[in-house]
Amino acid sequence: MVTEKKEHTEKVQELFNRIAPVYDSLNQWLSLGQHHIWKMMAVKWSRPNKGGRALDICCGSGDLAGILSQKVGKTGKVHGLDFSIEQLAVAKEKYPTWIIEWIQGDALELPFSNESFDCVTMGYGLRNLNDIPTALKEILRVLKPGSSASILDFHRPYDPTFSLFQDIYLNSLVVPIAQVYGYKEDYAYISQSLQKFPQGRHQVELGYQSGFSRSVHYPIAQGMMGVLVLTK
Ligand SMILES: C[S@@+](CC[C@H](N)C(=O)[O-])C[C@H]1O[C@@H](n2cnc3c(N)ncnc32)[C@H](O)[C@@H]1O
Repeated sequence: MVTEKKEHTEKVQELFNRIAPVYDSLNQWLSLGQHHIWKMMAVKWSRPNKGGRALDICCGSGDLAGILSQKVGKTGKVHGLDFSIEQLAVAKEKYPTWIIEWIQGDALELPFSNESFDCVTMGYGLRNLNDIPTALKEILRVLKPGSSASILDFHRPYDPTFSLFQDIYLNSLVVPIAQVYGYKEDYAYISQSLQKFPQGRHQVELGYQSGFSRSVHYPIAQGMMGVLVLTK
């Protein structure tokens, strides 16, 4: 079991290192630019405040951390954490270290002391983690009391029509476009990771089980996407 989890983590880390050079442009193409809107919604739900301290976990190439830095302003501080050195290299090019502090680290073992942050975000990261309850408990630990975390990700829609639409979108659009860039197998992973990812109602339960006082799930894009908002 431990070896299985370790293998999964290494596989995910290698995958995100490998796709780092094309990650941003493929996101743009595959969502027709919509991912910016979903990311802005997620940041808003985390309730960043001017002068506050914010953390973006699984920051990848840094989009959510970038939006957070506008919200907290010059008097605030944003940390972006990811275990992929190649994704962090792209993030650093977009937002130099004097704007955002980039940290290589594990979402399951955050290198921060208790109650350090006024808000936390995570975009398309939770689905890739091999231990969701541990990830949520880590978020709870580093949040200040009364503060919120906002977790955006793909979901399997409850509605079978949209579930079918999602299958067609992933298999007939995403994978073929990724193939053009030479990353067919890497993008086929999205569909696999969705099969075992908890749906909205289950995520809400996991939030409460992890100790949050409020756990709410907002479906977006007909349930193909969703944001879990957790308050400590
Ligand atoms: C799909 S990308 C999302 C990147 C970015 N948040 C966005 O919305 O564009 C998922 C990111 O999670 C990171 N990741 C996955 N598992 C992780 C872990 N255990 N610790 C830290 N980062 C992890 C990957 O390296 C990758 O950059």
